[in-house]
Amino acid sequence: MRIDIFTIFPEMFDSPLNGGIFKRAADQGLLKMKVHNIRDYTHDRHHTVDDYPYGGGAGMVFKPGPVFEAVETVKTEIKDNDNVEGVPVILLTPQGELLSQEIAEGLSRQSHLMLICGHYEGIDERVADHLATMHISIGDYVLSGGEVPAMVVADTVIRLVPGVLGSPASPLDESHSTGLLEYPHYTRPAKFRDWEVPQVLLSGDHAEVNRWRREQAITRTWQRRPDLLEKANLTAKERMFLESVKTSERGVKRGADPS
Ligand code: 6GU
Repeated sequence: MRIDIFTIFPEMFDSPLNGGIFKRAADQGLLKMKVHNIRDYTHDRHHTVDDYPYGGGAGMVFKPGPVFEAVETVKTEIKDNDNVEGVPVILLTPQGELLSQEIAEGLSRQSHLMLICGHYEGIDERVADHLATMHISIGDYVLSGGEVPAMVVADTVIRLVPGVLGSPASPLDESHSTGLLEYPHYTRPAKFRDWEVPQVLLSGDHAEVNRWRREQAITRTWQRRPDLLEKANLTAKERMFLESVKTSERGVKRGADPS
């Protein structure tokens, strides 16, 4: 997979690219990530990327010219890669579609992505309308720019590319892929300070372990993210278990309310 990132802060990507999942994928030859400085596509002496908003108001607005030129230049550089017009051009913006595991799965099947890092004060709407093919937000909170969201998108996507993660089975089991939060994990020692690992995990009974994990996943999803249960695939038996959780001590919700 190739990922091109367009930003006015290219140095923000230096350390993420030098470790973790991005380095691992690059070392395996599965990812080529290139960061482009939008400022390099300006033509005035001051390398101006923003200007005052038409109609007045606070803050500056990203000019369309340098962003268009940056994306279009990179597209021509890779013309040999036939279907360049089909490459998703993703604008990171708080006004975008909320990123989900499903969106990440769709993007992971692409061979090439382009990510444009917007800035909160705004980006000329013609970039959103005529250059970007998708607009993505990573959540309902405000960030100063699209750089961190671009890393979030790249991380969720690249870890789904076959071969990037050690064991191919693991992404399917985890939180959000099953529609439930993940069950709790434990490793040695079996007793740490006063806290013991649940006995069932030491039993060697795989069917029991699987049943316990599934029940844990259902219970904590109910406690922490009950909204997810509407879309979760539960068997009739699991639905009955869920009902018993809701009416029992185990169903008491914890951890979500800081007030
Ligand atoms: Cl993609 N950009 C900014 N600036 N803020 C955000 C966001 C994106 N997603 C959530 N908040």
